[in-house]
Amino acid sequence: MAISSFAQVHVATPNVEMVLKAEKGSRLEIMYFGSRLSEADAANIEAAGVPGHNAYPPYGMSSHSEAALEVTHADGNMSTVLVVEGVSSENDVLAEITRIRLKDTVYPFYVTVCYRAYKEVDMIETWTEIENLEKKPVRLTRFDSGYLPVRLGDAWLSHLHGTWSNEGMLVQEPLARGMRVIKNKDGTRNSHTDHAEVMISLDGKPQENHGRVIGAALCYSGNYEIRIDTRDTDYHEFFAGINPDNSAFTLSHKEVFRTPELALTYSDEGLSGVSRNFHKWGRKYKLAHGDKLRKILLNSWEGVYFDINEPGMDQMMADIASMGGELFVMDDGWFGVKYPRLTDNCALGDWKVDRNKLPNGIGWLVEQAHKHGIKFGIWIEPEMTNTTSELYEKHPEWVIKAPEREVVTGRGGTQLVLDLGNPEVQDFVFSIVDDLLTENPEIDYIKWDANMPVSNHGSQHLSMDRQSHLYIDYHRGFASVCDRIRAKYPDITIQACASGGGRANWGVLPWFDEFWVSDNTDALQRIYMQWGTSYFFPAIAMASHISAVPNHMVFRTTSLKYRIDVAMSGRLGMEIQPANMTEEEKALCRNAISEYKEIRPVVQMGEIYRLVSPYDGRDMASLMYVSEDKSEAVFYWWKTETFHDAHLPRVRMAGLDPSRMYRIRELNRIDNVALPYEGLSFSGRFLMENGLEIPLRHKVDYHKQDDWSSRILHLVCDE
Ligand code: GLA
Repeated sequence: MAISSFAQVHVATPNVEMVLKAEKGSRLEIMYFGSRLSEADAANIEAAGVPGHNAYPPYGMSSHSEAALEVTHADGNMSTVLVVEGVSSENDVLAEITRIRLKDTVYPFYVTVCYRAYKEVDMIETWTEIENLEKKPVRLTRFDSGYLPVRLGDAWLSHLHGTWSNEGMLVQEPLARGMRVIKNKDGTRNSHTDHAEVMISLDGKPQENHGRVIGAALCYSGNYEIRIDTRDTDYHEFFAGINPDNSAFTLSHKEVFRTPELALTYSDEGLSGVSRNFHKWGRKYKLAHGDKLRKILLNSWEGVYFDINEPGMDQMMADIASMGGELFVMDDGWFGVKYPRLTDNCALGDWKVDRNKLPNGIGWLVEQAHKHGIKFGIWIEPEMTNTTSELYEKHPEWVIKAPEREVVTGRGGTQLVLDLGNPEVQDFVFSIVDDLLTENPEIDYIKWDANMPVSNHGSQHLSMDRQSHLYIDYHRGFASVCDRIRAKYPDITIQACASGGGRANWGVLPWFDEFWVSDNTDALQRIYMQWGTSYFFPAIAMASHISAVPNHMVFRTTSLKYRIDVAMSGRLGMEIQPANMTEEEKALCRNAISEYKEIRPVVQMGEIYRLVSPYDGRDMASLMYVSEDKSEAVFYWWKTETFHDAHLPRVRMAGLDPSRMYRIRELNRIDNVALPYEGLSFSGRFLMENGLEIPLRHKVDYHKQDDWSSRILHLVCDE
């Protein structure tokens, strides 16, 4: 790492750079964040009129402005002044870590501001390490991970908003004056409603493939807060960190508080460019097994719900195997001895198989899966219990509960959250996975669910003067359990489900291979949710399943072709009772699974280019994935609205090599007549400048017509 004579610190990836000014004894300043600078431009950055901003502003001496850190020192002083003490760097093959140690000018109180700049991807992670060397505890009431000034202009915010069964909806708005706050207080899951990731477009209304965009993702499983303060200055001030609401943290003498990583990126190729940066970084360094293709699975939930039994499970396994699937996941309903889990009101915590439903236990199911030539997976919800459970009878002191008050329950009128801050609970949660996998080492996949927020604030484990540590300790406990599981079971696939997409966050995914995007599997609504989710997360992590119609959530009836074409844009799976499908429907799915296997490397490892947004009201949506070497691509087109006399736009592709020829093949074809360009080759230039006409509807026999229309085109380079 270079520190020039001006104490300039450069934190740089191949195409992105941050410049800091770190003069000993002065405050640490952030001077620049954007595309990589030449040495000459970097040297003159200050003269260009770029004012330095305190890179990690503490509260106190500029108390009218927002702060990243708020501390009450041991003696009661509420002000902090931090100056640079030293800069160091570590270099490994993956990244360069720059650590800038700051010290309070009066107190033995230190903050190390850290930056990890990756060498092969355009991502800079920043976090801080807050160290108390004062003789007594200090109290932290705000502890952001990082701060970034963004020059005023026509800046727009893109972020995700939602609720249960409508996760990941895209919201785009100009950054106006005032304070924009996005935060979560769920306690356990943090991405059902708003997400801890944002993009800021710097050149006016956000565009997918043009313009300068900053991307930021707070990598944390718990409550978070993002603030963008636009006051009377030339800058929007961006802060992100753990949500400090009701979370004041007492930091003991010599204790270090490490804030979660805030991942920052930048692209001048529009929103999709920033998405590609997130996806590449995520697959390479964050997501569990981001370099391995995912199996095609059938999950039992929407097919049978709690109605688990041996013949039923065996039939589902046989069916998914016969359609070419590779994994079967038995969802909720398989456990509970004293209180059999017949519905959602009991038995969480009692992870013993219900022998009335499954007389031969899990082992038999695993064997059957083996016979069918597929893998076996299982659902658990390890952080939870019910008041009706053997666990709660034995350990009522393990649940989160406000002191002196009755518990507030959740799902089924009986659900409760276990206090993961308690080491005994951590051991118990670890043992759930450990026991299952010790008894059944061939289990290949775990669906880890979490269906309740922290509703009542209180820990029976924490002392009364540490009750405000509840949320932070919960997520430290969660991290510690996940670390233990991954240390012992590095290869198992784990899905993060949290009533659907409640745990789509880069702070969760290092332990998990994927997440369940939403409990809502309606193909049309999924186009919107998956579109938004793809801003920050790659297709390989987005579980996307073909389900029955009328859809169980919205009661819409879409065609099977449409459902398949939507599910195939993520990690393909099925969530349906195959016994209720016709032979023709099974054949369609069998074909789709086989075609998906062909395009799986491009979908799961390729680069995304979003083309036409469903949110733009143009009655259709389209995106594509392109392999890194640009030799192959998959193009998706979905009609989202049907009107007679509709005039849909012709979609121009993106991301191809203009000079190469791509041969077109339609996948999942249902039309009686092939598309006119089937089997023909076009140059990347033509496809990107002109594009191909997509007919409004499918040419099928009259009685098979409906109002749904979608296409998947596979493009392969000729040579
Ligand atoms: C949650 C999950 C579903 C399913 C049920 C089981 O709602 O999101 O996918 O696993 O729990 O109870």
